[in-house]
Amino acid sequence: MKRAMKAMVLTGHGGLDKYEWREDWPRPEPGPMEALIRVGACGLNNTDVNTRTGWYSRTVTEATTGDSHAEVDETDPTWGGRPIRFPRIQGADAVGEVVAVGAGADSALLGRRVMVDGWQRDWSDPENLDKARYFGSEIDGGFAEYAKCDARSVAVVDSGLTDAELATFSCSYTTAEGMLNRANVGAGDTVLVPGASGGVGGALVQLARRRRARVIAMASEAKHADVARLGPDAIVPRAPKDLRDALRGERVTVVADVVGGSGWPELIDILERGGRYTCSGAIAGPIVRFDLRPFYLRDLTFTGSTVVPSHVLRDLVGYIERGEVRPVLAATWPLAELREAQRAFIDKRHVGNIVVVP
Ligand SMILES: NC(=O)c1ccc[n+]([C@@H]2O[C@H](COP(=O)([O-])OP(=O)(O)OC[C@H]3O[C@@H](n4cnc5c(N)ncnc54)[C@H](OP(=O)(O)O)[C@@H]3O)[C@@H](O)[C@H]2O)c1
Repeated sequence: MKRAMKAMVLTGHGGLDKYEWREDWPRPEPGPMEALIRVGACGLNNTDVNTRTGWYSRTVTEATTGDSHAEVDETDPTWGGRPIRFPRIQGADAVGEVVAVGAGADSALLGRRVMVDGWQRDWSDPENLDKARYFGSEIDGGFAEYAKCDARSVAVVDSGLTDAELATFSCSYTTAEGMLNRANVGAGDTVLVPGASGGVGGALVQLARRRRARVIAMASEAKHADVARLGPDAIVPRAPKDLRDALRGERVTVVADVVGGSGWPELIDILERGGRYTCSGAIAGPIVRFDLRPFYLRDLTFTGSTVVPSHVLRDLVGYIERGEVRPVLAATWPLAELREAQRAFIDKRHVGNIVVVP
C-alpha cells in the first residue's frame, strides 16, 4: 500500500467548499528524472483562487472576488484555456527538502533545500513556452506534505531565510522579473506599479529598484507605511482623483501592471511618448476601456507576460542569495486552514504574501 500524506485537495471548480482536507492522500513517488520534496512551506497565489472559481474563463468579466463563477464552461476555466483534471493539489510556491529522486535524476539534490519553478518545462523542448505546465494547476503542487516534480525544475537555495520566507518568492518574483524583462526596464526608467502592496506589485518595486529604475508605487493608503519599506521613490494612492496630479510631474516611462480595471485608461494616459506598458494580471477587472489613440499617437509598446524562460528562476535565486531582494511575509497559516488563509488572501488587508505550512 502507498504511504499516506496530508493534503488539501481541490475537488472541482467552485467555492472554498471545493477544498477537501485529507490525511490519507497517497504520497507521490518520484518517477524517472523526478524529485520528491518534503514541503516546508507553500505560498498562496491568485492562480489558486482564479482556477478554483473559473475566473480565467472568457465569459467572466469582473474583478477577482474569490466567488465561484458557476456559469463557466468547463472547457476554459484555467489560465491556459484548457480544462484541468480533478482532484488537484494546488500551490505553486513550494519550498522544501528533496527526500528522494527517481531514476536518472541528479542525486546531489538529496537533502538540499529547493524552490520549485512554477513553470514545469517539457524537457525535450525546455524553452518552448507553449509546452510549459503550471505546478499546482496542470500537475499537483505544494499544498501537501510532499510534492514531486521534474528534478531539473527545482533550484537549490543557499540562504538563511526560513522556508516560509522563501515560499513568498517563486510565482510573484518570477512573474515580476518576466514583466520587467519584456519591457526592458533599466536605469533611466521611471516605473509606475499599481497594486504595489501585493505579491507581484511588491516584487516589481524591489526588482525595478534592483535595476536602478526610479519606482512609484500605487497602493491603498492604509498600506503605504508597509509599502514604503520596499523602497519605492514615491507612493501614490490606489485610486487618486487625478493620477497625473498625484504624480506631481513625474515622467513615467513604464507602467508595470497587474491590476487593470476601471482605472486602467489613466495608466495609459500618463505614459511618456515611447513608453512601455507591461502586464501580467487584471485583479481589478480584465475588461478595460482601450482608446487606441494614446497607444499609437504616443508610440507606446505593450507587452504581456506569463510563462517565463527557465533562466528567470535561476536569476531570482541569485538575487535572494545575494540579499538583493527580501521577502515580505504577511502571515503563515497551517495547511489544514488553507480555506481560512485563502479567505484572508482574498480580503487583501495584508501586504506581501501569505504562506501555508504543512
Ligand atoms: N500572469 C502570471 O503569470 C501571473 C502571476 C502572478 C499573478 N498574476 C496576476 O496578477 C494579479 C495580482 O497578483 P498578486 O499576486 O500580486 O495579487 P495580490 O497579492 O492579491 O495583490 C493585488 C493588489 O492589487 C491591489 N488592488 C487594486 N485593485 C484591486 C481590486 N479591485 N481587488 C483586489 N486588489 C486590488 C491591492 O492593493 P491595494 O489594496 O494596495 O490597492 C492588492 O494588494 C492577479 O490578477 C494575478 O492573477 C499573474
